[in-house]
Amino acid sequence: MQKFFKHGPKSNNMVKWSSGGMDKVLLTRPILEPGYSILREKLDVVMPKGDPPSKEELLELVKDVRGILCHLTERIDREIIENAPNLKAISTVSVGVDHIDVAEATKRGIIVTHTPEVLTETTADLAWALIMATARRVAEADRFIRKRMWKGPWRIDFMLGHDVYGATLGIIGLGRIGQAVVRRARGFRMKILYYDIVRRETIERELNAEYTPLEELLKKSDIITIHVPLTPETFHLIDEEKLKKMKNTSILVNTSRGKVVDGKALYKALREGWIAGAGLDVFEEEPIPDDDPLLELENIVLTPHIASASYATRRKMSEVAALNLIEALRGGTPMYVYNPEVIGKRRNCP
Ligand code: GLV
Repeated sequence: MQKFFKHGPKSNNMVKWSSGGMDKVLLTRPILEPGYSILREKLDVVMPKGDPPSKEELLELVKDVRGILCHLTERIDREIIENAPNLKAISTVSVGVDHIDVAEATKRGIIVTHTPEVLTETTADLAWALIMATARRVAEADRFIRKRMWKGPWRIDFMLGHDVYGATLGIIGLGRIGQAVVRRARGFRMKILYYDIVRRETIERELNAEYTPLEELLKKSDIITIHVPLTPETFHLIDEEKLKKMKNTSILVNTSRGKVVDGKALYKALREGWIAGAGLDVFEEEPIPDDDPLLELENIVLTPHIASASYATRRKMSEVAALNLIEALRGGTPMYVYNPEVIGKRRNCP
């Protein structure tokens, strides 16, 4: 990370550039170049000492800033927003905004921006990596070899997995990332089912995906992959009851938000064989606690919230987040506004 953060401050130092009449903004944690230089060129950037910063530090630092550029690790809740009387814009370097109290920001005329699109393909790639690794037990096989357990000769019944080619793929959430996952499925000649809160008829025709009520999708799919945002409606969308509806040969992949799946129920499902496996990039608590029982299971592939983590995509996300904030503070319309209803009714700060 520091490799690309050439001109930036050390994140454990409080840094403030004096920049004349520039708007003062809080950058909660480092971002990559060129976003960082772009931000510094146009705005007066302050950074916390802590990485990640404590709530107390955030509360102190937001008192006189006009903008916040945050990561998904910082909760920009009502208390933080209330403490920032001059705040005009919150730019998150993520597609998800569940760490921000968007309703409160909107109420106060504060623009919230995020970074969709630039991470779509990279995230879909990782969803596929987890699909393949889970269905074909790649991580388990790797562990088996490293533990020096590969002793006997080739065996006909050894480490059998499930076919991806020709399987039925169930997509929960056919937004940008869900669609990118479906496009990759063509080469695997998969039957595609999808569930979403809104039926997307044009896209479903284009992608040859069949709209299917959630319960039916759970019953019919061999591989299920989740691409919904975390909202009160999607919290524990996949719970014990839903997991029991899935085939005992099926696999579940989650690259959205950990809290969309009930982790305790998933553990039971994997241990008791209600489903065959799971691939997770996101967790109810991150980092996953050392004593989380999911860590004890063989039939699960785990990655540490890295779905968008390619060099090019993380650089692009940093750049887009910086440009979003600059544009919002300039009074323009940023590229990716999450609460467009605020445009035209923005907060007027001294
Ligand atoms: C990552 O999880 C993101 O929301 O960008």
